[in-house]
Amino acid sequence: MTDLKKDARFWNRAARKYAASPVADMMGYERTLERTRQSLTAEDTVFEFGCGTGTTALKLAPSVRQYVASDISSEMIAIAREKADREGATNVRFEIGTPEETVWSEGTFDAVLGFSVLHLVPDLDVTLQSVHRLLKPGGTFITKTPCLREMNMLLRLVVPAMQLVGKAPSVLFLSAKELEQRMEAAGFEIVERARHGSGRKDARPFLVAKKRGA
Ligand SMILES: C[S@@+](CC[C@H](N)C(=O)[O-])C[C@H]1O[C@@H](n2cnc3c(N)ncnc32)[C@H](O)[C@@H]1O
Repeated sequence: MTDLKKDARFWNRAARKYAASPVADMMGYERTLERTRQSLTAEDTVFEFGCGTGTTALKLAPSVRQYVASDISSEMIAIAREKADREGATNVRFEIGTPEETVWSEGTFDAVLGFSVLHLVPDLDVTLQSVHRLLKPGGTFITKTPCLREMNMLLRLVVPAMQLVGKAPSVLFLSAKELEQRMEAAGFEIVERARHGSGRKDARPFLVAKKRGA
């Protein structure tokens, strides 16, 4: 089984519990939503990857023209679709997929969003290149990513042990600096850096980047 399939199974198992758990830092989440909204326009076509149960997609979609939200987990997408039906959302489409494997062609989107997902992808450079490809020239990529290298060092021991027993997905131990460098190498210019967390230390940089080479 490929790592992506294994990860999809992990997230399928986690989906109902994930949907039921409250946002850990609501004020930080609201800051991220607000700042993201400010970077979008009512004319935009948006692609989100790693959308989970669609909470963010359903909150942001009313601010844009069309919103495509994707995830590797069919269970996450099923929950997201249930929520979209309940809310009567009309401009959001939820699909199983990734930026690397999607039906959408080069230069389709004004903005691509990825929240709490870049540390989970099997090949970060390939994902970043795929995001770059999906964006229109000058398009915007917004991400907030846990940089595990800035978190408790014990994670480095605990996570591999949990992975062995299927209790953790694949993860990358990135620093914020490395993440930025790899985004730049993929053709992005970082135009905004922030930390939205309410606590003393926040290891999840919020980055707004523009596709270079317009
Ligand atoms: C921590 S959750 C974040 C969900 C949502 N973005 C949020 O902020 O609540 C990570 C999500 O990414 C998805 N995911 C994991 N690996 C992925 C990959 N390689 N490509 C796309 N999505 C992935 C999981 O299925 C899960 O729904």
